[in-house]
Amino acid sequence: MDNGVLVEVKDLKKYFSVETGFVEKLLTKERNFVKAVDDVSFSIKKGEVMGLCGESGCGKTTMGRLIMRLEDVTDGNIYFDGQDITNLSGSELTRFRPNMQMVFQDPHASLNPRMSVGESIGHSLAVQKLGNKRERKERVREVMKRVALTPVDDIIVRHPHLLSGGQKQRVVLARALVVNPKLVVADEPIAMADVSVRALILELMLELKKDFDLTYLFITHDLATAKYICDRIAVMYLGVIVELGDIDEVFMNPAHPYTEALLSAVPVPDPKARRQHKIPRGEIPSAVSPPPGCRFHTRCPIAIEICKKVKPEMIDIRKGHYVACHLAK
Ligand SMILES: Nc1ncnc2c1ncn2[C@@H]1O[C@H](COP(=O)(O)OP(=O)(O)OP(=O)(O)O)[C@@H](O)[C@H]1O
Ligand SMILES: [Mg+2]
Repeated sequence: MDNGVLVEVKDLKKYFSVETGFVEKLLTKERNFVKAVDDVSFSIKKGEVMGLCGESGCGKTTMGRLIMRLEDVTDGNIYFDGQDITNLSGSELTRFRPNMQMVFQDPHASLNPRMSVGESIGHSLAVQKLGNKRERKERVREVMKRVALTPVDDIIVRHPHLLSGGQKQRVVLARALVVNPKLVVADEPIAMADVSVRALILELMLELKKDFDLTYLFITHDLATAKYICDRIAVMYLGVIVELGDIDEVFMNPAHPYTEALLSAVPVPDPKARRQHKIPRGEIPSAVSPPPGCRFHTRCPIAIEICKKVKPEMIDIRKGHYVACHLAK
């Protein structure tokens, strides 16, 4: 049955074991884990841009890599178009892979300097043995035109060092789209781009979404970017989602003190409308031993006793606007 959901994540956990020193190993039997993603459930609807925000180290990339099945799951499940993909492996996983593609932050690092643009873009088609040689060439040229890597004849033979930053990011996008994925996980795709090309790339991504019938998981720590491109947004803090909802709703009525604090750092055009909230003080606690109760309570300006002890559940406060906070109305 099609319920309009493309990806569903249920009670997902990813714990990385922490390397300890030799002496430490002798002294303690306990193994430590970084709880990068710690019991997260949410879904991504078909055709939407779902944003994933939060400070550095909160688990955004890990979440993206888990959904992409680039990382094994510690616990929980991932469903793609109704199919449980949590434990796909071997040839099953290989066959499934074209459904999801990832675009990374640094286009330069993700391109092989020895491959021409044509080879880079065509590589996954060849690996997946999709079409014959002539069809693959045709497909590469077609996708290059769609991402405005033109004139194709000139650019297709170039190597990455002869491309501008913007062109490299287009190659990375073309390489993701060439296999006709349903989901694109974009991890800070414009963070390294020149300010002048950022808007162009976002614009292009939105066009491509329409043309290729895509769904995006858009990872960014920048809320202004999220506001521009996302339909919905999930805010992460120390491995958990604290708030999730339609982007306009969350921006207008943030219900979690952490979201409020993040938003207070976003520049607003009207100086009279300046937001008045305090930015949380203090260090981000360690993901190895996150605070009990609400993970945010050590930095929260309004925390009360219960916040230190009881983990707040996600509740729906306004038609699909979810928040995990004891004090949310
Ligand atoms: N392979 C790994 N082994 C051990 N710990 C890891 C590994 N990958 C990530 N982590 C840890 O998991 C936590 C979440 O990391 P992650 O990269 O997902 O955060 P992020 O939100 O993407 O941060 P950033 O905004 O800096 O990219 C961090 O504490 C990180 O150190
Ligand atoms: Mg990251």
